[in-house]
Amino acid sequence: MRVVALTSEDDFEGWRDAARSLAAARIDPSEVVWQVGDQPGDLFGDEAVLPSAAPELRVSRRFVGLAQEAILHSDPERFALLYTLLTRVIARPGSIEDKADPLLRRLDDMAKSVRRDIHKMRAFLRFREVADDSGPRFIAWFEPDHHIVHANARFFVDRFHTMRWSILTPEVSLHWDGETLTEGPGASKADAPQDDPVEAVWKTYYASIFNPARLKTGAMLKEMPRKYWKNMPETALVGELIKGARARELAMVETARTTGPGDNATKAWAALRDEAAACTRCHLYKHATQTVFGEGPVDAPLMLIGEQPGDQEDIAGRPFVGPAGQLLDDALAQAGIDRSAAYLTNAVKHFKFEPRGKRRIHSTPDAGEINACRWWVEQELLIVRPKVVIALGATAARSLLGKAVTISRERGRAIPLDSGAEAWITVHPSYLLRLPDPEAKAAQHAAFIADLRTAAARL
Ligand code: URA
Repeated sequence: MRVVALTSEDDFEGWRDAARSLAAARIDPSEVVWQVGDQPGDLFGDEAVLPSAAPELRVSRRFVGLAQEAILHSDPERFALLYTLLTRVIARPGSIEDKADPLLRRLDDMAKSVRRDIHKMRAFLRFREVADDSGPRFIAWFEPDHHIVHANARFFVDRFHTMRWSILTPEVSLHWDGETLTEGPGASKADAPQDDPVEAVWKTYYASIFNPARLKTGAMLKEMPRKYWKNMPETALVGELIKGARARELAMVETARTTGPGDNATKAWAALRDEAAACTRCHLYKHATQTVFGEGPVDAPLMLIGEQPGDQEDIAGRPFVGPAGQLLDDALAQAGIDRSAAYLTNAVKHFKFEPRGKRRIHSTPDAGEINACRWWVEQELLIVRPKVVIALGATAARSLLGKAVTISRERGRAIPLDSGAEAWITVHPSYLLRLPDPEAKAAQHAAFIADLRTAAARL
């Protein structure tokens, strides 16, 4: 028997190197024992495989992709199954496409289950805010089905780059201090805080998006497996919501008919705005006068997202009231759009500036600041549920699409969002204000109005 001791449950490199050595030596899968960690007792009479001297081996990308995912599955047999598949693929490269092969199907199912688990962690993990001597810190508890925590670490670092956070799971804990990711031992649910003000927002928000019509089809229950309910603050409301769903559905229809947007959406929005007023997700709150939150009808079919409040917005506490706002107002009017019927907000909710004498000079928010503030924009999108979202400029586009894009390339076409809404990208009004050449200015101004008109025509 050969024994391979992998360093961790998700040690893909260790598995790969050992598998290469074993395959090169034509060792039959039945001759190999795979285990995680050093268990010297198990080596008695057996030969340890030292995978470091692994020869190169060419296999298809499809195999490598499958192995990288399936290896994260919790099934202890996965290492052996993958090695068996590897020996087959070496003998018959085409066998990786054999859809009827039960081994391949089993491994494909494992990879799928891992992908689903990765997605669930991203979608259902909730941070609770706590404070320590250095300020706010966010803690989340999550119980994955598979060994996916490391595979998801980069996602959470990118997404919550400017926050200090810890993710606790039974197997491992991850800690991000704003600069460095460290790893600690597993934890228990009791180590994570159970309740905090962030939950209040979630609960109100969840009540507002709870849609009895979707519940009837089971769509929402399918998206949110029961297993996760216990860790999500909003699910404390589920039983109550189901009980009252029919009555509330009728009441909401009646309210919407007589008074406009549902009361719940208005409440959720107000709770969100109040929460944002105390936002310290990034450092910009330290020098700005106040959070400038979005404004407009909470059921607006059109949402416009700007970059960040300017000097005047920072003082007034309202978006787009300064020079760029005036240009935008004119352009909206020329495009036939009623500003008061649209929801206006910014990708970044605090004014970022450089002090120069008595003046405060606008400074463009960086990726970390945009990412930190994306959480608010996402909540605004979830509550307002616009049909069309216009991103004004690169910062807004980055916030909305979650990646940097080139305006000239994306402009003039609908970009579908996960929510079902359409995103339209155009320039920022400040760009038009800055253009020195009158001819270029007029041309760009006309193009801006045309962009607004095209997007609004989709409503
Ligand atoms: N520029 C923006 O992007 N937003 C404002 O609110 C004001 C100026």
